[in-house]
Amino acid sequence: MKPFYITTPIYYINARPHIGHAYTTMVADAIARSRRLLGDDVFFLTGTDEHGQKVERAAQKAGHQATKVFADEVAASFQQMCGDLQISNNDFIRTTEPRHHRAAQELWKRVADRGDIYKGDYEGWYCTVDEIFVPETQLADGKCPTCGSKVERLKEESYYFRLSKYQQPLLDFYAANPTFVQPDFRFNEVRTFVEAGLQDLSISRTSFQWGIPVPGDPKHVMYVWFDALTNYLTALGFGSGDPHAESRIGRFWPGVTHLIGKEILRQHALYWPAFLMAAGLKPPQRVIAHGWWLMGGAKMSKSVGNVARYQDYVDVFGLDALRYFVMREMPLGADANFSDDGVLTRFNADLANDLGNLVSRTTTMIHRYSGGMVPDSPVAAREPLDLELERQLARAIAGVIRNFETFQITVALQDTWVLIRSVNQYIVKREPWSLAKRPDAKALLDATLYHSADALRVTAALIDPVMPQAAARIRAMLGIPQESWQGLKAGTLAAGTRLGPTEPLFPRIEKTVEELRGMSSTEPSEPVEPATPTQSTAPVSAAPPAPTTDSRITIDDFMKVELRVAKVLEAEAVPKSKKLLKLKVDTGQDQRTIVAGIAEAYQPEQLIGRTIVIVANLQPAKLMGIESNGMVLAGSIDGGKPMLVGFDQDIPPGARVR
Ligand code: MSP
Repeated sequence: MKPFYITTPIYYINARPHIGHAYTTMVADAIARSRRLLGDDVFFLTGTDEHGQKVERAAQKAGHQATKVFADEVAASFQQMCGDLQISNNDFIRTTEPRHHRAAQELWKRVADRGDIYKGDYEGWYCTVDEIFVPETQLADGKCPTCGSKVERLKEESYYFRLSKYQQPLLDFYAANPTFVQPDFRFNEVRTFVEAGLQDLSISRTSFQWGIPVPGDPKHVMYVWFDALTNYLTALGFGSGDPHAESRIGRFWPGVTHLIGKEILRQHALYWPAFLMAAGLKPPQRVIAHGWWLMGGAKMSKSVGNVARYQDYVDVFGLDALRYFVMREMPLGADANFSDDGVLTRFNADLANDLGNLVSRTTTMIHRYSGGMVPDSPVAAREPLDLELERQLARAIAGVIRNFETFQITVALQDTWVLIRSVNQYIVKREPWSLAKRPDAKALLDATLYHSADALRVTAALIDPVMPQAAARIRAMLGIPQESWQGLKAGTLAAGTRLGPTEPLFPRIEKTVEELRGMSSTEPSEPVEPATPTQSTAPVSAAPPAPTTDSRITIDDFMKVELRVAKVLEAEAVPKSKKLLKLKVDTGQDQRTIVAGIAEAYQPEQLIGRTIVIVANLQPAKLMGIESNGMVLAGSIDGGKPMLVGFDQDIPPGARVR
């Protein structure tokens, strides 16, 4: 079995976990699960980073006498998060554990023995929120350039690490390992930073005590990043002195994948390899830096106060829906907006509609037309449509595996959903409900049932790393065991398999976001403006009867108009028309053509990629011979040029506008 070691950052315990921490942990979990499905020997590590001034102060603020008591309490909430999110970690490390103290001191000693640590005086600026030293030239308005917090002036005796010595070795290492940092553009940032020259790094503090004592000089505690980064080795037995425990280093190091948020890339791609080189150890194989979840335009973080609790979303949408949303919505490396609307839209469109429909159609048909048993479909009976479906399955399997191997989970999910939609179309084209009425069509009906069930089996396997619960529930409905990705292929479902009971997988949520916002939140989460008045504020039954001359409409009338967010994919002028443009738009559910009277105000190329609002349920109409399926919303001052309706934040196509 191939060893595969994956880590998350270890989280600071000055605050309880939120969606940001949950995200990294869930992505690492999906990667770990995918590697297990591929047959690897996986070691998956997460944990908590418990030292430093920030934690000491948070404990004092929380009224705790002993920082350790506070640490135990908050660390437990991260352990609880792993349980709540069904994280399959093999170990959970806390930097306050004795095994970690030993490891960090061992690393320090090795670096010191090789002459790369010296004593000096530090005078400069320090950001306690990020636990980093900030060179004077990088201060932004006297504040930390990373998080915008106030920095503190420090003047104390300090041990230094000879980081400057590692400029060239780091650049050589980067050159020899072109996939060390992913995505690529982040690697360029690191390279540019190193090329500009490196200064030695202060790696000890004397002004507080909550840390790991420096070997031989306990007046100093280690700089929290020197301590924290070592956790990745601690969990492999480093510094334990036990040969059996340490044998894991040989197995899993340096072939490690560090999954992190982009704000801690420098520490992982620069400090960490340099510390390791200085200790005579190999740098890690790979650092993957993902983007940030934003809320209200800013990074979701405790210090900003705009955090969303993962528990609220698990309660309302279910764990797998949350896991699906975050992994579908944020492509590797990019930032993404976290919004209730986004979660609800994806839930109804992708999970209830696409996947939920496939599951219920397939299992119901087999119960209804085949006594709950997967029928046989002899190879000879297969028609072009069946063979095409098999090819699509093969394409999806290859695509998903390839994309998981390169950590492109979003793309893997897109591949899976292309498949799910194709299978739904396959069923619609075959019309099994009509075939069932024709005794002469039995072979075709059986083929349809067989291939749909077989495709559902493959779908369950492909979503398994991201949605383990849903995958297990589908398998239970199909009556099949979990399948590995090794040798996963179309056509292997055994005829005669007896289905289990059918249950709705993701029942559609008919409530509005505002109604769902009853989702209790005990921490202040982002105050999200309700988009419009809704049933929750104006229940239809309680509305006073309108006078007959009143032209106002009821909320029900309004809700008949399906306003949706769409994205312009293509735009071109309509020949011989001054006013019309022909747009191809992505509605989140389909791609369609809309003819819009906005040519006097917009050039076609200005519109591509733009987010607009459309009336999605308008009957088609022909304009200048082109069928238009919907209408674009724009405002205009009497007789003036139209101005497209837009949003002040990113919002995905398909989101309902109310
Ligand atoms: N303790 C350090 C890491 C030490 S690793 C040796 C630390 N801790 S942290 O609690 O601040 O967690 C940071 C990590 O949490 C990010 O790198 C990211 O993985 C995750 N996230 C926290 N907020 C996030 C968002 N708003 N969006 C996405 N991920 C976020 O830094």
